[in-house]
Amino acid sequence: MAGRVQDKVAIVIGAGQGIGAGIAARFAEEGARLVLADWRQEPGATTAAKLGARFVQTDVSDPIQMARLAETALAKHGRIDIVCQNAGIFPFALLPDIPVEQWDQVLAVNLRGCFLAIQACQPAMQAQGYGRIVLTSSITGPKVSVPGHAHYSASKAGINGLIRAAAIELASFGITVNGVEPGNILTEGLTAERDQDYIDAMARSVPLGRLGVPRDVANAVLFLASDEAAYITGTTIVVDGGQILPESKV
Ligand SMILES: NC(=O)c1ccc[n+]([C@@H]2O[C@H](COP(=O)([O-])OP(=O)(O)OC[C@H]3O[C@@H](n4cnc5c(N)ncnc54)[C@H](O)[C@@H]3O)[C@@H](O)[C@H]2O)c1
Repeated sequence: MAGRVQDKVAIVIGAGQGIGAGIAARFAEEGARLVLADWRQEPGATTAAKLGARFVQTDVSDPIQMARLAETALAKHGRIDIVCQNAGIFPFALLPDIPVEQWDQVLAVNLRGCFLAIQACQPAMQAQGYGRIVLTSSITGPKVSVPGHAHYSASKAGINGLIRAAAIELASFGITVNGVEPGNILTEGLTAERDQDYIDAMARSVPLGRLGVPRDVANAVLFLASDEAAYITGTTIVVDGGQILPESKV
């Protein structure tokens, strides 16, 4: 039986670990031809080797590197059907303490990276008359926030605006643009920032009783990237185990 993205050429950015590695693995299971990117060589190349994918070391905030990524995918496979821009950084700093350079870097990776992913892949998708763009946003920014994440929240809320704008602009070319808003997902990036007690408390506060795993998010990304989502554009799917639902914390 054919996979849900059988033979589709898919670029996954930020695929070295965490949610991005989960997306890449899920796409591989469903038959995609993968080109993976990450700004760190070692984890990106390791994920790619496991999945039999091509790896291109790429900083998503750099337009030249992003153009090279799209060119590599085109040279190898002749088309780009799907791009998932999932790379993101989430340093903690309260507003008075955010260095301007850190503000700019969070916006450059998280938000400009999404813009550059679209810009790099649009020409090929437009020429094909087909494309699926899936961006990793967050509940943090679009729905809720937390002290220490002003720059992160601004970047992720910006992604949701970009999704709507790009969806309108690209619809007539057969390209859909959507996103996922993960809640707290157990990844290397999350556990590096928080201790076990905090992680346990977060899990207890989620109505479904656990934190998410990369595969939970990857399943939503896969759906949005598949032909089952052909009539869906300009929107996001929240993947948070009900985390944002409680009306009150007491
Ligand atoms: N884990 C969560 O709870 C959670 C919740 C909501 C949203 N998200 C979002 O999901 C995405 C992945 O998060 P994660 O927890 O898997 O993070 P992670 O830190 O575990 O993995 C992120 C990957 O992206 C790569 N990366 C970072 N900056 C890059 C750049 N400039 N260019 C290319 N690659 C780059 C890293 O090297 C790493 O391999 C991020 O966009 C994050 O904001 C995560």
